[in-house]
Amino acid sequence: MLQINENYQKLPGSYLFSTIAKKVAAFTQANPDKNIIRLGIGDVTLPLAPAIINALHAAVEDMAAAETFRGYAPDLGYDFLRKAIVENDYKARNCDICEDEVFVSDGAKSDSGNIQEIFGPQCKIAVCDPVYPVYVDSNVMAGRTGVYNKETEMWSNVIYMPCTAENNFVPEFPKETPDIIYLCLPNNPTGTTVTKSQLSQWVEYARKAGAVIIYDAAYEAYISEDNVAHSIYECEGARECAIEIRSFSKNAGFTGVRLGFTVVPKDLKCNGVSLRDMWARRHGTKFNGAPYIVQRAGEAVYSTEGKAQLKEQVDYYMKNASAIKQGLKDAGYTVFGGVNAPYIWLKTPDKMTSWEFFDYLLENANVVGTPGSGFGPSGEGYFRLTAFGSYENTVAALERIKKL
Ligand SMILES: Cc1ncc(COP(=O)(O)O)c(C=O)c1O
Repeated sequence: MLQINENYQKLPGSYLFSTIAKKVAAFTQANPDKNIIRLGIGDVTLPLAPAIINALHAAVEDMAAAETFRGYAPDLGYDFLRKAIVENDYKARNCDICEDEVFVSDGAKSDSGNIQEIFGPQCKIAVCDPVYPVYVDSNVMAGRTGVYNKETEMWSNVIYMPCTAENNFVPEFPKETPDIIYLCLPNNPTGTTVTKSQLSQWVEYARKAGAVIIYDAAYEAYISEDNVAHSIYECEGARECAIEIRSFSKNAGFTGVRLGFTVVPKDLKCNGVSLRDMWARRHGTKFNGAPYIVQRAGEAVYSTEGKAQLKEQVDYYMKNASAIKQGLKDAGYTVFGGVNAPYIWLKTPDKMTSWEFFDYLLENANVVGTPGSGFGPSGEGYFRLTAFGSYENTVAALERIKKL
């Protein structure tokens, strides 16, 4: 008899962005003359840099001639891209990572959702709260999370690590030992991060606990402070306990182009079984490669011109982040993040809930942000603004907020 995967029925609706869209649509209909500024969604807005566009055009030409045409890509990704990744993201930072430990993919969302497949159904996951929702939802689909409590908005079989102003947004080691620990640093949604020495303590903790860290470094390009690690492999021992996921979405504007990669070191083993070999098997079976054209564009990210142009883009967004942070501070808000990440996390004023503040900001400043409670119960009382808008809109939004 045909049966569905019942775990999907357990998923609570993903109401965050659809509720925001509905509220904004209703407001626009009632107030057609108001100019709304959107600082809510974590999507980039600058066009692709010239070095990327040139690489895309050249790769399209390659596809037009029999001598240079490419069909299916190699399982792990093209050598030219994996070489550039290893040289620039790892060797340059003294991280011992080889090309055959790098798996090119179509982005960090797929990899962070799929990676759980190589672990057993009984494994217990630990996540930061608030959190990027993919980590929990993909484990719900796999039947690992137990029962959902609507009141607490928590799963019975998930270890939550609150990250709030009280602990400076640094997750504490859980009392119960997890098997899989998801860390996203710099963090979405809080825009905060941890120091290299704090990250090293997590590596040590995972090694002692026999746990694996799934390290989502999608926002690595935004790190500005010297004491923050760009890769978890900068920490001693991480090759034995960590998988790192990277994206080209936020450093190079590939949100619509689609490219990412995952690093699974050969030293990472569970009862003698190589997780790297398992991921290679999974990748080869279920994924047929990121497009050649896109991998060439990825290679251009590491070219001299590419690096310079993309630094300008990151600087542009981080100038917005500084403007938001300073503007909010001037207006009397308590703000976090925005130094090593393109997100600003603010404490809602006057004990407003996250959604109350959403409505207040929309109605009075015509600015759209994201309620912190949408990312988990510990996000209640917080609000996220993103630095991905235009500078002009960002400054205009802050002027309006200051006048409230
Ligand atoms: C923490 C985190 N990981 C992964 C992603 C998705 O990245 P990609 O576009 O490479 O799928 C996002 C996107 O917003 C994110 O915030």
